[in-house]
Amino acid sequence: MGFPEGFLWGGATAANQCEGAYNEGGRGLANVDVIPHGPERYAVTAGLRRMLDFEDGYYYPAQTAIDMYHHYKEDIALFAEMGFKTYRLSIGWTRIFPNGDEEEPNEEGLAFYEDLFRECKKHGIEPLVTITHFDCPIHLIKEYGGWRNRKLIEFYKRLVTVLFNRYKGLVKYWLTFNEINMILHLPFMGAGLVFDEGEDREAIEYQAAHNELVASAWATKIAHEIDPEMKIGCMLAAGTVYPYSCRPEDVREAQVKNQENYFFVDVQSRGSYPNYAKKFLERHGIDVGMTEEDERILAENTVDFISFSYYNTRCAAAPTTEAERTEGNAFSGAKNPYLKVSEWGWGIDPLGFRITINDLWDRYQKPLFVVENGLGAKDEVNPDGSIDDDYRIDYLRQHIEAMKAAIEEDGVEMLGYTTWGPIDLVSAGTGEMSKRYGFIYVDRDDAGNGTLARSKKKSFDWYKKVIATNGEDLA
Ligand code: BG6
Repeated sequence: MGFPEGFLWGGATAANQCEGAYNEGGRGLANVDVIPHGPERYAVTAGLRRMLDFEDGYYYPAQTAIDMYHHYKEDIALFAEMGFKTYRLSIGWTRIFPNGDEEEPNEEGLAFYEDLFRECKKHGIEPLVTITHFDCPIHLIKEYGGWRNRKLIEFYKRLVTVLFNRYKGLVKYWLTFNEINMILHLPFMGAGLVFDEGEDREAIEYQAAHNELVASAWATKIAHEIDPEMKIGCMLAAGTVYPYSCRPEDVREAQVKNQENYFFVDVQSRGSYPNYAKKFLERHGIDVGMTEEDERILAENTVDFISFSYYNTRCAAAPTTEAERTEGNAFSGAKNPYLKVSEWGWGIDPLGFRITINDLWDRYQKPLFVVENGLGAKDEVNPDGSIDDDYRIDYLRQHIEAMKAAIEEDGVEMLGYTTWGPIDLVSAGTGEMSKRYGFIYVDRDDAGNGTLARSKKKSFDWYKKVIATNGEDLA
């Protein structure tokens, strides 16, 4: 009983939040580079403020991040010391195709990731690779409008074909798009969308979603043709939406909000648009331009497993219900009065993790992979350099217990679990360094000061023990 043998414990990062070296190795500029720290960050990530290049007077944390580009050997060695079985990382699209629409890839970028994967393998760590974690080449945004344009499907196919051929035998697990449903919440970050005054924002978001869904199915097809051993997963920003009360209007509101997220996985896992989505698009006068070929590709190339991030559940109240509102991983909603919240106002709900896991398993009956979970918190460094992050240990312990119950008592099939940001990195939501998730501390502050030195927190040894005992000893 307990966690299955071979369960893939590890941690997850994204290229733009840790690599830095934004202009080295022939890399081109991407949307994620030009998202500033500070009050305008949200407007930029949401596509409401056009910022397609660096502007004076702003600090851009992704330019240097934690400089993993130059530290990856040291960092992977620390992951190995914790006993990681897997390491989830993402490819910087513009390291491989600096503009996105070139015919030939950039060898320096390909060599960088090859070396990184070999380093993982050397330590017995299985790479789990996100093909795009929020990044889209700036050139594709300026020239084609980002994912609103179908042409991006072709450029993405070119990218994945290069990756699958090059890393065949080195990488088995792939995720097509990080948190694909983020398009509806942070469309510039999620899909390189910027809106002009008067544009139908919703129609453009669903168009971009369609293009990504088709691209994802193509990636699945191409991967299986190149190497039948490859396993392709979708990736959802998950977290079940609870009704604020048993008032039927609240229950219905929660159902609709859940469908808004399930839509993506319904297409990626079941292979067609669900009726509720077709009706929604029809009602809103949205035509995503589905071709016969799209329909066939979607139907024939469903994902092998379902991956997701879980930070919190959400709560929905009907417009006619009076309820306080709250934040949480780009999804605002009604405030759940039963939950404590993190320093950033995100609800803490380990039982909700078990509920979310069950919901996804019941709906899709495909192996699940938790590829993000964790607590963003401020850490204090003691005079001797140590960091006692018991709050992080508590959060993870409770969530791992909930996941264990889902496996042991509910019979859910699960491939693995990677915590978010095993090493401190730049926050996607706020651009801060002080919102830390890591077992490994990085000396870097919100303004980019610090030595970048790495040190172990108390949670480092704790997670090491969790992995060594395959989740049995969580004390
Ligand atoms: C997920 C993203 O939304 O949540 C990550 O996939 C992100 O990129 C993580 O970092 C945590 O969010 P934040 O805003 O605390 O960095």
